[in-house]
Parts: sequence; structure tokens; C-alpha cells
Amino acid sequence: MNKRTVYIETYGCQMNVNDSEVVAAILEKEGYDYTEDIAQAQLILLNTCSIREHAENRVFQRLHEIKKLRGEKPDLLIGVIGCMAERLRDQLFDNDLLADIVAGPDSYRQLPELITIAENSKKAINTHLSDTETYADIMPYRVGNNRISSFVSIMRGCNNFCSYCIVPYTRGRERSRDIASILHEVEQLQKSGYKEVTLLGQNVNSYKALEGLGFAELLERVAQTVPDMRVRFTTSHPKDMGDDVLHVMARNTNIGRWVHLPVQSGSSTVLERMNRKYNREYYLNRVEAIRTILPDASITTDILCGFSNESEEEHAETLSLMREVGYDLAYMFKYSERPGTLASKKMPDTIDEETKIRRLNEIIALQNSISKAQNQADIGKTFEVLVEGRSKKNENELKGRNSQNKTVIFPKGDAKVGDFVKVCVTSATSATLIGKIDN
Ligand code: SAH
Ligand code: SF4
Ligand code: F3S
Repeated sequence: MNKRTVYIETYGCQMNVNDSEVVAAILEKEGYDYTEDIAQAQLILLNTCSIREHAENRVFQRLHEIKKLRGEKPDLLIGVIGCMAERLRDQLFDNDLLADIVAGPDSYRQLPELITIAENSKKAINTHLSDTETYADIMPYRVGNNRISSFVSIMRGCNNFCSYCIVPYTRGRERSRDIASILHEVEQLQKSGYKEVTLLGQNVNSYKALEGLGFAELLERVAQTVPDMRVRFTTSHPKDMGDDVLHVMARNTNIGRWVHLPVQSGSSTVLERMNRKYNREYYLNRVEAIRTILPDASITTDILCGFSNESEEEHAETLSLMREVGYDLAYMFKYSERPGTLASKKMPDTIDEETKIRRLNEIIALQNSISKAQNQADIGKTFEVLVEGRSKKNENELKGRNSQNKTVIFPKGDAKVGDFVKVCVTSATSATLIGKIDN
């Protein structure tokens, strides 16, 4: 029998990484082999992201490159799945992109049928969004060679409709996965030797099980089910970040001391235009709660500059909030208008590119200095580090992350990948802690 082989390339967020593993599992059941070598594949899938225009442009470029492989392989099938598939639909068959298959984030179970249609030289498409699909019963096919840390999706979709954001349109309505299937998957990971699990969702704090249990209860159940594993979660929306979750973290020491709390802007007027449903004071109150209940936690964020009508004063409020919080790390972006969002219809993209770039550079420069100071404050402290692999620069050094999710590099000694080791920090840059094993 001629075995078929699939290659999947993933763009975008961690949810997409996990979805690619779900897709690999669905196709494995259909008899597909998974390959990391595109040249071996009879089916190439690009799992795509629509969050910014740049993310989509990268995929268009890639599709033009991949198209050339058809010359060598007449039977090759090319599929676009994920958020761009949902947003652009049959446009992906148009012009000269030549996708054979287009499948949105809720139609991966239908991929086998879509492939059959495409094999019969027809364009195969399913972009139906579901109110219930969570792929709860599908054990993801774990991709890559890191068998230490893994993702488990606990919810899908988003109901927040931040005015700039495409996700509610590409991922559909929010829905939570049942607790039993989450606990089962986490236990399976533990049995396979994994040491860390990250619970994923666009807004994990609004998790709601059918039984009525919320995120705080779920987090505690997970932490207690696998006490030897480190448990993390992302992303938290500040409006739903209650003290209950922080108290669960405080009493379960295997939950990582790390809160990712995207602020987007330090200005209450911008936050209102963004429809974030909190203001600067409320956000700072949540930071205060984290500092009080979890004094050793790191706090990281996402910042979005140059949104519609953002004034210099409003931009300055973002810089001042960054100084006030003292983030350990930030993902920083300039606003990219997304067709179909509320902002694209009602709030013109008024800030010119040069100003956006200048503001973004100011934000990046400030964050670099804050990250460096935050990391240098760790010098002399000892952390438990989960070893993930060799350092890129030096084969006698290992790299891992501490409970605060900071990357730590140290001479390897007797430590092995997958070990938890105590490392004392001796120096630090804005991106990394450097240390030595503390016996
Ligand atoms: N659900 C998460 C974020 C998902 S998208 C949350 O609510 O925080 C990740 C980040 O991309 C966002 O936090 C935001 O900073 C950025 N982003 C979203 N839409 C964007 C847009 N239109 N232009 C630029 N950045 C955007
Ligand atoms: Fe987008 Fe807002 Fe939902 Fe995050 S919470 S995915 S930024 S709409
Ligand atoms: Fe991108 Fe979709 Fe994730 S738009 S950020 S891949 S949810």
C-alpha cells in the first residue's frame, strides 16, 4: 500500500500549535504518516494566522513558494487551515494561490472527506464555525522532539470582541471543554514523561464547565491531579482575573509563578475605544493583587500601540504604566487594521506608519531596560529550573525555564533534559538568566 504523508507548517499562537497536533492525530487515524520534511509530503497543510496583516502576508509568500513543488509532484495536495482559511474562505482558491483544501478551525474532523473531494480534482472547503466543537476526545499527536512540555486546550473561541481583534470572527464563540477529558489528557501526558503542561485558551479565566465549575476550580483540579508536573496557563483577560485564581496558585506550588496579563494600553480612553472592558485603575488593582497574593510571580503582557486616534498623551500613559508595573517581559505590536472588525468599520486607522514605528520603538526600548533590571534583580536567587535542552550557543550548557517562565542558562554538570534542578543566578541580560547548579 502506498502510505500517504502529511507535512504541517504552523503560524500564529499556541492554540494553533495545539490544533496542528489535533489535525496530525485525525490524519494519523486515516493512515497518514507525519513528516517534518516537506519534500516527503503528499499533503501540505499551512495552519494560518490572521491577527496582523504581516502574518497573512508571510503565508501568501509561502503559498507561492510551495506552489512550485507541484511541478515535481502532480498529485500534491495543498491545504490552508486555521484563521486565514476562516477569514478568506474561497478567496484562497482564487487568483494564483491554488489551494486545494480550505478548512476553518472547527472543521478539522472533516479533513478526511475534504481530502477525498480534493483528490477528485475538486476544490474542498469547510469553514463552518461550531458552538460546541472542542476536539475533547482527540488525543493530540505530539509534534516535535521536546517531550518535556506540552499544551492542553481547555476552551476555544472568544466572546470579547475587542474592537481591533479578528479572533472572535475566525474562531467563533467561546466554548469550554469538559473537565474529565482535560484531566485525562493531562494524566496521559504525565504517563508519557512530560514535566510541564500549559492550559490554553484565548481567555482561560472565563472557562466554564457544564457542571458549573470555573477556571479556578479547574486549575486546582489539574494541579492536584499531576502534583509532580509544573502547570501553567495562558491567556488571562484582566477583566476576568479574579483573586480566586491567584489564591489557587498560592496554595499549589506546582503552578508556575507567572501571570501573562495583556494590558494593550495604559490609557483608559484608548482601552475604552478598544472595548477591553477595564480601565487603567482596574488593571493596576489586578497587578496589586498579584503582587500581594503571589509576591514572587513574574508578570508579562501584550502591548498594542498606534490604535485609532491614539494621542501622544495616551501613548505616554502606556509608557508610564509599563514603568509602574515593571513587566518582566512584553510582546509589543503596532496596530494593524483587520477587515471586518468593529474598529475597521467605525474607527479609522489614523496613525501614520512612521508614528506607529516610533511609538513601538519607544515601547521596545523602555521594555528592554525594564526586563534587564527585573532580571538583574534575580542575581543571587536560586530557582528550580526544568531542563529543556542544550543551549544554542554552547553545547556544554543547558537551558530551561524557572517557575516564573524565565529562560535560564547554566553549565550542564550531571543534569539531564527533563530534570528539575536548582540553579543560582550569577548574571542576567534583558532576555536570559545565567547561573550555576546549586547542589
Ligand atoms: N486573547 C489574547 C490575545 C490574543 S492575540 C488576549 O486577549 O490578550 C495576541 C495579541 O496580538 C493581542 O494581545 C494584541 O496585543 C495583538 N493584536 C491583536 N489584534 C491586533 C491587531 N489588529 N493589530 C496588532 N496587534 C494585534
Ligand atoms: Fe482578541 Fe480580545 Fe478575544 Fe483576546 S480577548 S482574542 S484580544 S477579542
Ligand atoms: Fe492568529 Fe488565530 Fe491565534 S488569528 S493569534 S492563529 S487564534
